[in-house]
Amino acid sequence: MKKKIALLPGDGIGPEVSAEAVKVLNAIANRFNHQFVFENGLIGAVAIDSCGEPFPEATEKLCRSSDAILFGAVGHPRFDTDPTLKVRPEQGLLKMRKNLGLFANLRPVKSYPSLFSRSPLKPEFLKGVDLVIFRELTGGIYFGEKTQTKEKASDTCTYQKDEISRIAHLAYETASRRERKLTLVDKANVLATSRLWREVVSEISLSYPEVSTSYLFVDNAAMQLILNPRKFDVILTENMFGDILSDEASVLAGSLGLLPSASIGTGVSLYEPVHGSWPEAAGKNIANPIGAILSASMMLEHAFSLHVESALVNRAVEDAIQSGMVTKDIDPLSGFSTTATGDFIASYILHEAMQTV
Ligand code: IPM
Ligand code: MG
Repeated sequence: MKKKIALLPGDGIGPEVSAEAVKVLNAIANRFNHQFVFENGLIGAVAIDSCGEPFPEATEKLCRSSDAILFGAVGHPRFDTDPTLKVRPEQGLLKMRKNLGLFANLRPVKSYPSLFSRSPLKPEFLKGVDLVIFRELTGGIYFGEKTQTKEKASDTCTYQKDEISRIAHLAYETASRRERKLTLVDKANVLATSRLWREVVSEISLSYPEVSTSYLFVDNAAMQLILNPRKFDVILTENMFGDILSDEASVLAGSLGLLPSASIGTGVSLYEPVHGSWPEAAGKNIANPIGAILSASMMLEHAFSLHVESALVNRAVEDAIQSGMVTKDIDPLSGFSTTATGDFIASYILHEAMQTV
């Protein structure tokens, strides 16, 4: 199989973690005789520095002409301290999501038994956690009208029925292939948009009788995620709630650095770790590459339907975690480097006995 992949490393640790994802994809290409052609594009602060735009037209063109997009991270503190700045790196990511119609962001979260002892949570809460968050990605308060004066500011949260139903169908289809439980997380006791979500989702639920639907207010969901995470299978939620809950859910996995995501819509799809650009760690070879590597695995599965290849990447990651081949976010004392972790995973992919593939 020959595929063209747009590679957008971005800022901070983005370039380092995406280099490890490329290493792993090259190992897969090598082992299974595929050809992955990577073409680099600019996004975020590096793009602003080079041409004044956080998501330049050339990058958008590259994305549209590719079979999938592998993205690192965006953001730099020099843009965070000045509230008057008009152009910010994060706008590049939001514009890319919007322009490419990437309305559904899938964030799977599972716990790893070999990391239980390092978790601030008790093992009995963590055992068997396996959930996926469906976060709406191109609507809500992120994209509504904004105003700001010295005295007053506003962000508008708007949702239309079709924006809710298209992601709800995807979430239900996934739920019916998993544990057949879907939880809509909202704030319907306060927000009109949440009441619309409930109305649309309860109507759609009738078409999926095999899936049991429950409804949770987001404040309660935040608590249940820690107290009783096993009760969740598919969580469906709007843009900002999904952003917040997925960082919280990363504690169940063991580190934010472990979480991958896939953003899908009607055209080309995008794969990115859930973590941000962690500028303080940039260039130090300490960032966890597993979120980026598992995002590459999601690309193999969702964009290219390469199920065996994707499963092998997942197994290689599990082997690395089980062998203690992890970075300092997980093991502060003897943590390995970004590149050493990527090397270990790539080498497992190249050398693991064929009959287990
Ligand atoms: C994420 C990030 C982004 C978001 C930021 C960088 C704009 O936190 O992908 O979760 O809020 O969507
Ligand atoms: Mg986030």
